[in-house]
Order: sequence, then C-alpha cells, then structure tokens
Amino acid sequence: MVRIVVAGAVIREWGGANRVLLAQRAYPPHLAGLWELPGGKVEEGESPAQALERELREELEIEVVGGDRIGDAVPVGDDLELRAYRARWVAGEPVAVEHRALGWFDDAEVVRLADSGEMVPADVGWVRELVDLLRRP
Ligand code: C5P
Repeated sequence: MVRIVVAGAVIREWGGANRVLLAQRAYPPHLAGLWELPGGKVEEGESPAQALERELREELEIEVVGGDRIGDAVPVGDDLELRAYRARWVAGEPVAVEHRALGWFDDAEVVRLADSGEMVPADVGWVRELVDLLRRP
C-alpha cells in the first residue's frame, strides 16, 4: 500500500521578499543535512490537511491551516507518494523540534539550494511552482 506523505509551504513576507520556511533534515543518513518542506505521513482516518496541520504542530510547534496543492505528486520508492500544499500560518514561531535547523528562503535562495544538491531530491520537483508563488506580489 502506498502511504501519502504531505509537505507544507509556509510563506511569509519578510525583509522585502516572500520567503518559504524550509527545514534541514537530521535523519535518515542519506537525507541528513538536506532541506525540505516540512511534513510527514498521513495517518489512518486523517485527511491530508489534518495530517499537515498535525505534523507542523509536532515538528515546528506552529499552527497552520492546510491549503491548495502545489505541483504534482512525487513518488518516492515503491511505497511513498509525496504531496505538497500551501500551509497558512495561524500561530506560533517555528521551533526545530526534529530538524537540524530552520530557515526562511526567498526565490533565488530556493533555486540555489535545489541546484547545489542541498534540497531533498523529491522536493526539487516542486521548485518551479514554489518559485512562482514566491515571485507573486
Ligand atoms: O518526515 P518523515 O521522515 O516522516 O517523511 C517520510 C519520508 O518522506 C522521508 O524519509 C522522505 O523520504 C520523504 N519526504 C521527502 N520530502 C519531504 C518530506 C518527506 O522526500 N518534504
């Protein structure tokens, strides 16, 4: 059975540019040090939006509301399907509970991370759509 993994883009205008919150993974070893849209697996009985809201509460201690899809689903191996969503920030300042670090990245910085191999490979599939969102006024 394919498990759905949801990942959220929290976007905030900060320092004169729109920025997306990315998180640097601490595990597993082949992904440690790489940056991703934070998220996790949908549990039984949860909607994708509920899973996203729970995961960001657990991993970042922020409250969000799950929004529109970003880009296409990305298969990872035989057993995972990743989906990205907008996540509208409601409350809390992000804390790296499970990640090595957190950062707010503008469009150029997102492209640089993807091009330099510092982004989780699956998430590179959403960079074009993410950059389009970040360039909107
Ligand atoms: O975050 P978590 O470990 O629960 O995610 C499960 C798997 O989903 C990861 O090991 C990784 O392969 C994948 N993932 C990803 N990009 C994300 C979130 C998760 O590739 N933004």
